[in-house]
Amino acid sequence: MAYVIGIADPLHDAGLEWLRTRGAQLIEGDAALDALPHLDALIVRSRTKVTREMLQQATRLKVVGRAGVGVDNIDLDAARERGVIVVNAPQATTEAVAEHTIALMFAAARHIPQADASMKQGRWEKKRFLGLELQGRVLGLIGIGRIGAAVARRARGLGMYVLAYDPYLPAGVIAERGAEPVPTLEALLNRADVVSIHVPLTEETRHLLNRETLAWMKPGSILICTARGGVIEEEALLEALEEGRVYAAGLDVFEHEPPGATRLVTHPRVVATPHIAAQTQEAQRRVALDIAAEVWNALEGGSLRWRVV
Ligand code: MLT
Repeated sequence: MAYVIGIADPLHDAGLEWLRTRGAQLIEGDAALDALPHLDALIVRSRTKVTREMLQQATRLKVVGRAGVGVDNIDLDAARERGVIVVNAPQATTEAVAEHTIALMFAAARHIPQADASMKQGRWEKKRFLGLELQGRVLGLIGIGRIGAAVARRARGLGMYVLAYDPYLPAGVIAERGAEPVPTLEALLNRADVVSIHVPLTEETRHLLNRETLAWMKPGSILICTARGGVIEEEALLEALEEGRVYAAGLDVFEHEPPGATRLVTHPRVVATPHIAAQTQEAQRRVALDIAAEVWNALEGGSLRWRVV
C-alpha cells in the first residue's frame, strides 16, 4: 500500500516529485492537517506547529520531517512518548543562511534599505546615510555550529576578526572553525562590534539576549539574528536601540511570526526581513530533496542521517 504523506507547508517541487515517483500519496496544505489519522508521515517547515494534540490524532504516524534545521515548532516530548520519529534537514540551508546573515550586516551597517526607500521617494540624502565599515571590526558569534562556521568563513574574507562563544564546543574546535574562543557571553558581548546569533531556540537560549545581557554589548554595536525569534527579548532590544547601545539590528526572525508592524520592526535602525534566510532557490530544492529521502528512509526502516527523536 502507498504511504500517505502530509505536506503541511510549501515544499519545493523536486521533493514532491521524488516522493511521487516512489508511489507516495501526497496530501498538501491544510488538507494534510485534516487527514492526520490517515498519515504515515508529515512534513512541515516552520509555519506548522506540530502539537501534542495533533500527534494524538495521527494514530498511524511514523515520522515527522522538518524541512529545515529548527525543530522548536515540534513537540519533541510528545513525539518521543508516542514513538514517532522526528528528522530534520540540517545541512541544506547552511550557505543560504550564512549569506543572508552577511547581507543583513551590510544592510544594517550601510542603511541600504532606508537609502533605497528614500530614493524611491525622489530624495538624495547622502549625509543622512553615513554608515560603518565591517572590515577591521570584531564579529562575535553566539554559537558556531554549521551556520556560525559558514558565517565565520565569510566574515574573515571581509577582513573581520571573529570571536565565538559556544559552551557546547571545545576551544580547539572553535579555533579550527576560524574563531577565537571566548569563555563567556559577557566576554563576547564586551568585545564584539557586530554580534550574530546562531543557536537554536531552547529553554536555555530563550531570551539569552535580555536587558541584563544587552547591557554588556559595546555601545554602538550591531546585532544580527537569523536564528530564532525568542532568543532575543524584543522589548529589551527596542530599549537598547533607543538608548543607542545597539546602533542597528538586522532581524530575520521574531518571537511571534508574522510580527506585524511592531515598534521593533518599524524602528528606523532595524532592517527586518520575513524569515527568509533559508529562502533561496538552491537551498529550498536541497532541503526538499534531503527531507524527502530522510522521511522515506524512516518509513522504510532504513538508516537515518538526521534523527532528532
Ligand atoms: C530553519 O530552521 O531551517 C530555518 O529557519 C528556515 C525555515 O524554517 O524557514
